[in-house]
Amino acid sequence: MKKERIDPEITKNINTLPPEMGEVLLNWYDYNKRNLPWREDPSPYHVWVSEIMLQQTRVEAVAAYYYRFMDRLPELADLAGVPEDELMKLWEGLGYYSRARNLKKAAGLVMTEYQGQLPSTRTELEKLPGIGEYTAGAIASIAFGRKEPAIDGNMMRIFSRLLCHPGEISKTAVKRDVREAICRIMPEERPGDFNQALMDLGATICLPNGRPLCENCPWSALCLAHKLEKESDYPVKKAKKARRIEHLTVLLIECGEKRILHRRAGRGLLAGLYEYPNLSGTFSPEKLEEQLDRWGFRDYELEYYKKGKHIFSHVEWRMQAYRIRIGEFPPYLLEKMNWLAVEREEVLHQYAIPSAFEMFRE
Ligand code: ADE
Repeated sequence: MKKERIDPEITKNINTLPPEMGEVLLNWYDYNKRNLPWREDPSPYHVWVSEIMLQQTRVEAVAAYYYRFMDRLPELADLAGVPEDELMKLWEGLGYYSRARNLKKAAGLVMTEYQGQLPSTRTELEKLPGIGEYTAGAIASIAFGRKEPAIDGNMMRIFSRLLCHPGEISKTAVKRDVREAICRIMPEERPGDFNQALMDLGATICLPNGRPLCENCPWSALCLAHKLEKESDYPVKKAKKARRIEHLTVLLIECGEKRILHRRAGRGLLAGLYEYPNLSGTFSPEKLEEQLDRWGFRDYELEYYKKGKHIFSHVEWRMQAYRIRIGEFPPYLLEKMNWLAVEREEVLHQYAIPSAFEMFRE
């Protein structure tokens, strides 16, 4: 059953988009596309890994990680067999680590269920962990040439402006309209390039926040928001919820050449990664000394080190760190607290520590 539109004008706006718009965009792409590492050889494995990396990370940040990842795990079978800690180390700094765990899990399934070949259809791709509607469309179109849209935030913004869509951009009804508009103009040939052209248009021309660069846009003559000089009124967005603020006291404990790390729980934020031990709340030196005494710390030096903050999507950490130098570490404490004493060098090279703690690294 077809649902009512938010605004009947949208039907008219979609129906007046000329189908040859797709060709115009591809022409623009041929001259303006960005040179990105995964575009050099868009094999299914390359496209898949790059799309997962790009899910929550900016294009500029992904390139270096992508090269390092492909150096170490050049084939899908290598990914299926990589030890979890090594994978986390390769992903260190990219954030949202469940993406990497899902990649490995999915690679295992592809090896056992699909003879090592990534499936090519949207439906089969969506059965794999970590692959949702957008990523399935991106892989099916870019790696397999299937005519499938891959609708991300960039595309929502572009079409919201093109159509002057009055609906709030996170509503499913708006996405449905955008899908209809895209399907109307998507060319039979080069669907993957068409999707990537939209990604590039969104990233370089039809920019979020503030004025887009309409003078360079191949679609400016067709864009309703541009015609009405209302580019900055679209897309319509709901007010953002404020992030929850959490205060942490971070302990940089040095015992000769050893450093103390804690492995986070297997579920929740930054699950299973390593961190410097920390306490919830802002501890004064006196309050911290009381805590250290209770833990059995004797003959140590305590020094305030520095403050830092890290922003996740829903939470903001406000941290303050202390350095604690101790000659002999209370031996029972490691097991009691689930802490590890590791060589200073190993902290850098063997343990995946999330970027929230980067500022405290030696
Ligand atoms: N963002 C997500 N996927 C992308 C791609 N293939 N090219 C450019 N930006 C992207």
